[in-house]
Amino acid sequence: MNEEAHPGGMHEPVLLGEVVDLLHIRPEGLYVDGTLGLGGHAEAIVSRLSGQGKLLGLDVDPTNLVRAESRLQPFGNRTTTRRANFRGLQGVLRGLGWNAVDGMLFDLGVSSPHLDEAERGFSFQKCGPLDMRMDPQGKKTALSLLREMSEDDLIKVLIEFGEGRFARKLSRAILHDVRQDLIKTTRDLADLCQRIVRKRGKTHGATRVFLALRNLVNDELGALQELLNTAPPLLSVGGRMGIIAFHSLEDRLVKVTFKTLEQEGLMGMAFRRVTKKPVQASQTETDRNPRARSAKLRVLERLR
Ligand SMILES: C[S@@+](CC[C@H](N)C(=O)[O-])C[C@H]1O[C@@H](n2cnc3c(N)ncnc32)[C@H](O)[C@@H]1O
Repeated sequence: MNEEAHPGGMHEPVLLGEVVDLLHIRPEGLYVDGTLGLGGHAEAIVSRLSGQGKLLGLDVDPTNLVRAESRLQPFGNRTTTRRANFRGLQGVLRGLGWNAVDGMLFDLGVSSPHLDEAERGFSFQKCGPLDMRMDPQGKKTALSLLREMSEDDLIKVLIEFGEGRFARKLSRAILHDVRQDLIKTTRDLADLCQRIVRKRGKTHGATRVFLALRNLVNDELGALQELLNTAPPLLSVGGRMGIIAFHSLEDRLVKVTFKTLEQEGLMGMAFRRVTKKPVQASQTETDRNPRARSAKLRVLERLR
């Protein structure tokens, strides 16, 4: 999810109808929601399962895990949850004795409470500590990472996340102020970025800096890459895997991997892209829920 498109208070699962349709849920199947969040998608999936079907839900954030567990409680032992990073999905499934699953969903990024709660440090619109960890036991906060970064490293990350023009200027100013202890909060960083980056339309000057730092703190692209390397062979024949990405770096990884799997297969397995083009939210959905604007859903199916 992107903060620009998040006016606060919107907790509606993105592309819900499309996810449920495209996963082709079998009532007796085994399913994974690798990004439980508030449990909206998970609830829709598990409500389509019979007593034989099961859903495993993961989240790295213990607070969201509790929120989702309470939402899924009416479904009793049809759901199992784990506090885990989806990059380790293979190990979690092995631990449960699940050899293959019929469907998986990954709705990437942060959840509404991450952006709404200032103390989590994700929002440039609120004043909180410069934290940005989805997993509060993660070793490094955004501030501790900045304290040990070189100017060149920060330039590289900012360029990767689209802040080309101002990357050098931003990097120098941010690291200067961090070293002088002038940046401690999200507000300090956001104000500095806003002074340097001229506003482009409705985009806040800190948008790309916050996105880049958040990704770095949580190694979001690394986790996605590991997931893409390990998850497709965990599908049973006919099983489907859906990924909702919110920015172009994530979506490109998904797009390229799904295309390669369709063309080349993997370990003797064949796959097809159910969606050649990403599925995007309808006008009605984006009118109701602006954060759906940047969502792109791609779905892969194992053929044999
Ligand atoms: C966009 S929200 C999911 C919202 C959810 N689909 C719903 O209906 O409420 C993403 C959630 O995934 C979690 N998350 C992000 N990356 C993760 C990862 N690599 N492993 C496990 N959980 C992750 C975040 O903590 C967050 O709670």
